[in-house]
Amino acid sequence: MTKQYPTVSEEYKKAVEKCTRKLRGFIAEKHCAPIMIRIAWHSAGTFDWKTKTGGPFGTMRCPAEQAHGANSGLDIAVNFLEPFKQQFPIISYADLYQLAGVVATWVTGGPEIPFHPGREDKPEPPPEGRLPDATKGADHLRQVFGVQMGLTDKDIVALSGAHTLGKCHKERSGFEGRWTENHLIFDNSYFKELLSGEKEGLLQLPSDKCLVSDSAFRAYVEKYAADEDAFFADYTEAFIKLSELGFADA
Ligand code: HEM
Repeated sequence: MTKQYPTVSEEYKKAVEKCTRKLRGFIAEKHCAPIMIRIAWHSAGTFDWKTKTGGPFGTMRCPAEQAHGANSGLDIAVNFLEPFKQQFPIISYADLYQLAGVVATWVTGGPEIPFHPGREDKPEPPPEGRLPDATKGADHLRQVFGVQMGLTDKDIVALSGAHTLGKCHKERSGFEGRWTENHLIFDNSYFKELLSGEKEGLLQLPSDKCLVSDSAFRAYVEKYAADEDAFFADYTEAFIKLSELGFADA
């Protein structure tokens, strides 16, 4: 599928460059990379391939979408990003939320993901219930990522590697704990931890564990645990797909 990206003005490009630099400083200072990646993902992950609804179109700015159970806590990210919208009003919320995810990955030592601007803000949030349920397993992940979003097994495993960062917060998701020892470094340690089994002080959700118990998923977990470059390459490809769902399709 060839992407036909919209042409954005020189002024828009300059604003994105400048905003990228400002976000770098902000995210590094506030140690908020994990929640920035989560807002990018939860914005995009509502895309429904069949109806072409949902997706990375800035609707997380709407209190109604922030109130969805799966988005608990994301008002923090929305509020962090609002001053950037005020400073760079030309940039859509849709682009800003995805750019924040790209910058956060880079700031924590992850891959440099190319960013394509030009998403437009949609007025209405998608219906609730499109994001995955952490208490469920492989069939559910394939339903949400595969059937709904149009992504592959490889994309599911690579993207789950973002849990190398961040934590679960009891008051947000009901879960508590982190997946890796250093939750502010983007590397392949999530996959190494998955293969080494449960460890005191670290957490694995049912949706993480199924990546090891399902043999097709497990092949990718083993690959990424052994080869960080392969993880970074596949993560980059999968994150671009995710953050461009419904955007610039041929
Ligand atoms: C495979 C299905 C997934 C499930 C069921 C899932 C579930 C969760 C849950 C329950 C939390 C804890 C939220 C909290 O309590 O603050 C979380 C956090 C997080 N998720 Fe996922 N997730 C999934 C996939 C992804 C993907 C695809 C990405 C990004 C590409 C991602 C990135 C993150 C990050 C960075 C955090 C940490 C947020 C923070 O520390 O504030 N997750 N996820």
